[in-house]
Amino acid sequence: MASLRPLFITTALPFSNGPFHIGHIMEYIQADIWVRFQRMQGRAVHFVGADDTHGAPIMLKAEAEGITPEQLIDRIGAGRRQYLDGFHLSFDHWYTTHSPENFALSTDIYRQLKAAGLIYVKPVEQFFDPVKQMFLPDRYIKGECPVCHTKDQYGDACENCSSVYAPTDLINPYSTLSGVAPVRKSSDHYFFRLSDPKCIEFMKGWLDTPGRLQPSVANKAREWLSGSGDQALADWDISRDEPYFGIPIPDAPGKYFYVWLDAPIGYLAALKNYFDSGKARAKGEQRSFEEFLAAPETEQIHIIGKDIIYFHTLFWPAMLKFAGRKVPDHVYVHGFIMLSGLKMSKSRGTGLSPLRYLELGMNPQWLRYYIAAKLNANVEDMDFNPDDFVARVNSDLVGKYVNIASRTAGFVTKRFGGQLGQGPFDSALLDDVRAASQRIAAYYEQREFGKAMREIMEAADVANAYIAQQAPWELAKDPKNDAQLKQVCTISLNVFRLLTIYLKPVLPKLAESVESFLRIAPLQWSDSQQLLENHVIGAYEHLMTRAESKQLDALLGIDEAAAKPDEKATGPAAASAVNEVTVEDFAKLDLRIAKIVAAEVVDGADKLLKLTLDLGDGQRTVFAGIRSAYAPEQLPGRMTLVLANLKPRKMRFGVSEGMVLAAGPGGKDIFLLSPDAGATPGMKVK
Ligand code: MSP
Ligand code: ZN
Repeated sequence: MASLRPLFITTALPFSNGPFHIGHIMEYIQADIWVRFQRMQGRAVHFVGADDTHGAPIMLKAEAEGITPEQLIDRIGAGRRQYLDGFHLSFDHWYTTHSPENFALSTDIYRQLKAAGLIYVKPVEQFFDPVKQMFLPDRYIKGECPVCHTKDQYGDACENCSSVYAPTDLINPYSTLSGVAPVRKSSDHYFFRLSDPKCIEFMKGWLDTPGRLQPSVANKAREWLSGSGDQALADWDISRDEPYFGIPIPDAPGKYFYVWLDAPIGYLAALKNYFDSGKARAKGEQRSFEEFLAAPETEQIHIIGKDIIYFHTLFWPAMLKFAGRKVPDHVYVHGFIMLSGLKMSKSRGTGLSPLRYLELGMNPQWLRYYIAAKLNANVEDMDFNPDDFVARVNSDLVGKYVNIASRTAGFVTKRFGGQLGQGPFDSALLDDVRAASQRIAAYYEQREFGKAMREIMEAADVANAYIAQQAPWELAKDPKNDAQLKQVCTISLNVFRLLTIYLKPVLPKLAESVESFLRIAPLQWSDSQQLLENHVIGAYEHLMTRAESKQLDALLGIDEAAAKPDEKATGPAAASAVNEVTVEDFAKLDLRIAKIVAAEVVDGADKLLKLTLDLGDGQRTVFAGIRSAYAPEQLPGRMTLVLANLKPRKMRFGVSEGMVLAAGPGGKDIFLLSPDAGATPGMKVK
C-alpha cells in the first residue's frame, strides 16, 4: 500500500514560449490525480511546478515581438493560473526558473561539479550567423538535404526523406534568422564529463535500482549508457555563448548555462521558494528546504513525457549525485496525447486548445475522467477521440455513477426527512464495494488509473442493477413498503458515497458537491471503512450535466456539414437553409486582426504566398492564394483579417494555420481586407 514518506513531486517545467497545450494539461492531470490520491491517504505532499524560462528560442521569440525576454516570460507566466485553476490542478506552488533561487542553486551545483573534477573546457566549431552575431542552434539552420536534395530542410533531419544528419552536412545552409549563409566558428564550451567511469558506474546503479523506473524506461536509458563507438554516451555540452537568455557561468565571461542545465535545478529552486515563502510551514512542514530535501525519507518524484527521458534519467541524477546531493527516487514517464494519431503538442491549431475547452464552459472533470480512464502505467500514447469522449463521460459518469444518487436520494428527502436507515445492512453489494477499496487504492498507487476507473464503473453497474431490481419508485407507491424503501435507498447512497471516495482524486469538485449534499466532512480514503447510518442528508441537486457532441465539434473546430457529408441537405429549401446562419454559427468563426510579418514566394506553387502572421499571442504561417495580385515585398507590415480557427491544412510546403480574407474574383483582382487604423494584432472581429 501507499508509503507515507513525505513527497516532493514535480511535473516537467513547461517552456515559457507559449500557453499550455493539451499535452501539458494531460501531464498535470495525470500527476494531480496521483497527488490527490496520496493526500487522501494522509500523506504529506509538496507538489511543485514552474516555468522553464531560459534558452535561445525564448530570447528570439521575445526579440521578434519587440519585447524583452523578461516581458515575454512574465506574460506567459501570468497566463498559467487560469489553466491550473480551470482544470482543478492542485499544485502547492508554481514558480519560475528565472529566479534568484535558481541562479544561486545552479551556480552552486556547477561549482560542486567542478570541484568534483567533472567540468572541462574544449573548443567547439559551430555555425555562426554573421549578421545576428550569434551561434545558431540546429533548428535555426536550413538548407538542401544532402540525401534527396529537397530544399529548405532543417539542420537535423529531412522532412521529405527522413534522413538524419548534422547541420554541417546541409548543402547551401542558411540561417533562418537572417537568411544569410552561416560561417563556421570556434568557441570554448564547458562540458560535464558524463563519460567519467565514476559517473557511468553511478548512473548504471541508479538505473538498475529495482522499482525506480518503468522497465521500458530503464531499458532505454541503459541502451544510451552502454552505447559504444558512434553511439557512446558523449560528455554533455552545458554552455552557450552570448547572446543568450539564461544564467551566467561564474568566472566565464560571455558564457551561460545551457537551459537544460538550469531547468531541472528549477525543480529545487521552486521548492526552495515554496519553503522560504512559508507555504511549506503552512502545510505542517517545519524543516528548512535543505533539511527536507536531504532527508532520506523524503521521496522525490518527477513526472515527465517520453521525449525528455534522457535528461531526467542520466544527466539529472548524475548532476545531483556529484554535487553531493540526494538523487531522485523515481522518474515516471507518460506517452503523448494525440488527436486521431496527430501529435498535439508543438504545432498550434492542430489540436485541442485547453483554454477553448474552458471558454466553452465544458466541465474540466470530464477531461480528467476521460484521461484517467485511458491511462495506464506504461509509456503509451493515448488518442483523444471526441466520440469516445462523449460516450464515456455520459455513460460512465452521468449514466452509471451520478445515476445512483439521482434515482434514490429524492425518496430519502421526501419520505424520511432526509434521514438514512440504520444498519446492519446485510448487503453483499455494499460489502463488495467496500472491499474494492484496497484493489482500487493499489491501482491508483501503481498509476493504473484506467484499471481503477473500470473497477469503479463495474461496481456502479452492480449498484444500478440492484436499484433496477429493487425499483424504489415502485416501493414508494405503497407506504407499507417504507422500511424496505429506506433500506434500498440507504444502501444505494452508501454505495454512492464509497464510489465518490474512489473517484475523488479524479473528480475533486464533484466530490465536494457530494460532500455538501450528503452533509459530510471532506472524504479521506480511510472513510471507505465506515458507512452512513441514521445520518441526515441534504437535498439532492443535479451533480453533472452530459457532454454534447456539438461541444466537441466547437472545441475541435469541426465543421459538421463537412464531417457528415451524407447528412448534408440538398434542394432549394436546403439551399436557403444553408445560406442563413445564426449568430451562434457566426460566433464559431474566430476572426482576428493579423499583422503580416513576412511574405515569401513558395517554390513549386505559383499561386501561393507564404505569410507569417502576428496574431498578438504568437506567430503562425498561412499559405494564401494571392500571388497573382500581390508581390511579397508589398505585404510585410500591413494589417489584415484572418480566420484563426480554420482547421489547419497540411500542404506540400508546410501546414497552413488559418486563412486571410480577401475579396474579388481572382487573378489581378484580389483585394486583401484591412482594418481601420488603430486595430492591433489579435483583436477579435465580431
Ligand atoms: N522545458 C522542458 C522540460 C524541462 S523539465 C526540467 C520541456 N518543456 S515542454 O513544454 O516542451 O514540455 C513539457 C512537458 O509536456 C514534457 O513532459 C513533455 O513530454 C510534455 N508534453 C509535450 N507534448 C505532449 C503531448 N502531446 N502529450 C503529453 N505530454 C506532452 O520539455
Ligand atoms: Zn531528404
